This record gives sequence, C-alpha cells and structure tokens, in this order.
Amino acid sequence: MAILPIRHYPDPVLKQKAEPVGEITDELRTLARDMAETMYAAPGVGLAAPQVGISKRLVVIDCAGSNEEPQLITAFNPEIVTREGESYEEEGCLSVPGYYTRIHRSAQVTARFLDIDGRRVEMTVDGLLAVAFQHELDHLDGILFVDHLSPLKKGLFRKKYQKVLDQMKEQL
Ligand code: NI
Repeated sequence: MAILPIRHYPDPVLKQKAEPVGEITDELRTLARDMAETMYAAPGVGLAAPQVGISKRLVVIDCAGSNEEPQLITAFNPEIVTREGESYEEEGCLSVPGYYTRIHRSAQVTARFLDIDGRRVEMTVDGLLAVAFQHELDHLDGILFVDHLSPLKKGLFRKKYQKVLDQMKEQL
C-alpha cells in the first residue's frame, strides 16, 4: 500500500478523458487500493485515477461518516445510467485545494461499474453518495466541479484559487 501524490488543477492530466479499463489485473487492484489509502489519508470521500496522474476509468468512493464502518466502493469503468431529481450541495475536491462551492447535480443516480473482483454492480444512490458518484465520474471525462460554475462564479474562483496556488508555492 502506498499514498500517492495528488495532482492539482491546472495539471493537464485532470482535463484528459480517461481510458476504459480492460481486464482487471493485479496491477489495477494495487492502484485501486493505493487510491483508497490516499483518499482516506487526505481525508476525502472520493478519488478518481486521473487525480493521481493515471488516465484510466477508475474511482474510489467512501461516504461513511467518521463514526461509521468504512464502506469503500471501488468502481472500474463506471457509468451513470439514470438520474432523478435535483440537488445543490457544497463540494470540494482534493485536486482543487482550499475551494468549496455548491454545485447543481442530480439527487439520485443509478451507477453501473465493475468492482475490484471484476463483478458487475448496479447501485442506486442518493444524498452525499450520489453527489460523490457524479463528481468522481466527471473526473474521468476531464471535468472538474468548478467547470459547472457560471462564467461569473468561475472568474471569482480563478482569482481565489490563484491565491491558494501562490500560498502552496511559498510553502515549498
Ligand atoms: Ni474531485
């Protein structure tokens, strides 16, 4: 197990469309486990492979509360097949440190994917888990949560985030 370095916006890997995964090899399982360890260490509730510089369709999600047992979801080649309702909740992203904002999403989604053992899974989720699926799957298409902002809000984001990046550089 290993904690992987997380790529930050505007790293170009975050804007790429990730490649589907073929056979789920031991190498991919190791990557998935390392991504989960990286997510828990951050801490975060989701992580997509492009965020650790690997342009493959793989995400890990765990939205269990801090007092609950972990409920890790490892999803290869995930797709959202149905969406229902509307949600408008605050989001953040490990690749966009220091910035949080509310984003319009669907309230409930049904996702299909292959789990870590290569089994086909279909899950219908709502609440934080539905937001996490939509946010993480966006990463596989090179979309960040801030790409959903209006042009005005995106302008404000850019100014604020530049300060975060400058502070991070000073700390290096
Ligand atoms: Ni993210």
